[in-house]
Amino acid sequence: MTKVSTVTIGALALTASALAQTSIAQAQSTEHNTAEKDYRVFEKTFGATKGKRRNHTKGFCFVGEFAPVDNAILAYSNSPIFSSTSEVNGRVSHKGGKNLSPDDKFGDRGLAFEITTPDGDYHIINVNTEDFFPASKPADFIDLVRALGEGGEAVKALAAGRPELQAYLAHHKKNRDTTLRPYEGTQFNSVNAFYLVNESGDRTAIRWSMVPSGSQGIVVETNSDFLMDNMNANLTNGTVSWDMVVTIANDNDDPNNAAIRWEGEHTRITATRLTVTSTSTEADGECDAVNFDPTVLSDGFVVTDDPILEARSQIYAHGIGVRLSEKE
Ligand code: HEM
Repeated sequence: MTKVSTVTIGALALTASALAQTSIAQAQSTEHNTAEKDYRVFEKTFGATKGKRRNHTKGFCFVGEFAPVDNAILAYSNSPIFSSTSEVNGRVSHKGGKNLSPDDKFGDRGLAFEITTPDGDYHIINVNTEDFFPASKPADFIDLVRALGEGGEAVKALAAGRPELQAYLAHHKKNRDTTLRPYEGTQFNSVNAFYLVNESGDRTAIRWSMVPSGSQGIVVETNSDFLMDNMNANLTNGTVSWDMVVTIANDNDDPNNAAIRWEGEHTRITATRLTVTSTSTEADGECDAVNFDPTVLSDGFVVTDDPILEARSQIYAHGIGVRLSEKE
């Protein structure tokens, strides 16, 4: 999609993404009622900090570039994000609703960024540290968020009747490396699948990971708020980057079910590299007013029918409205 110019609403200058025109959310605004209710479930479980996101609440902004690495990806997609170097405006975050979530404790993380190509095409990537999702259906995920608010026993009781949730809990308990890492040493996964579309109109289902490829150690003293200083130190002494490693679906992989891992041998292409050039707080940076809606895609990408994607689009659109109105 083409980027729209920055507009001022109330006291806030909104970037193009906040006004993104062709996301699923805007195409289906009648669903907002559900998003509103679901949002309240997040608020009940995670709390609500006025003017802030209700999940992935703690975070900071960065800017950087997104540059092609392996042009093998061009056989699958004519997206301009794979053929030219683009500008990036992004945000790293802690999962959960605590604005003061400690940096020196292991937890799930998020990475979200908007890509603007030299021709003004626009694309959002929004990823987290899960290997796959705990539910294939949005309502089942909301049940989990509700249960998390009620405590461990409620989650156990819910899992008893939910094989997907059982599989998620078992896998992540067994395979999760809980070593404390900085954002720049953390791998993020798309979790949801998308289609690539090439010049001939052929569709290929993919997932991808953002794999650390630059300086990635803890290089400053750790404390409850060290992650931005750490990224800055790694930027001063080297580079901070992630490679976008694309996994091409095999015939038996389901693109519409985020709760199933794509197992076994797959073709993988290191398509691009995201390189950070600088960081800033949310107050000073440009990421706070962005709606990182993962269904806002450049040409050469199409959403799958995964219902989680639609739900994300709806709830993020609702969230940005709430957050921005609280700042006015
Ligand atoms: C039905 C499924 C999901 C729901 C209901 C949901 C809900 C939410 C909510 C309510 C927020 C805060 C939005 C705000 O207050 O403005 C959020 C943020 C976020 N979510 Fe999700 N989420 C879902 C799935 C996912 C998945 C699959 C991923 C990653 C693969 C993900 C990654 C993120 C990230 C990184 C943020 C913070 C983005 C930012 O920095 O703005 N979410 N989510």
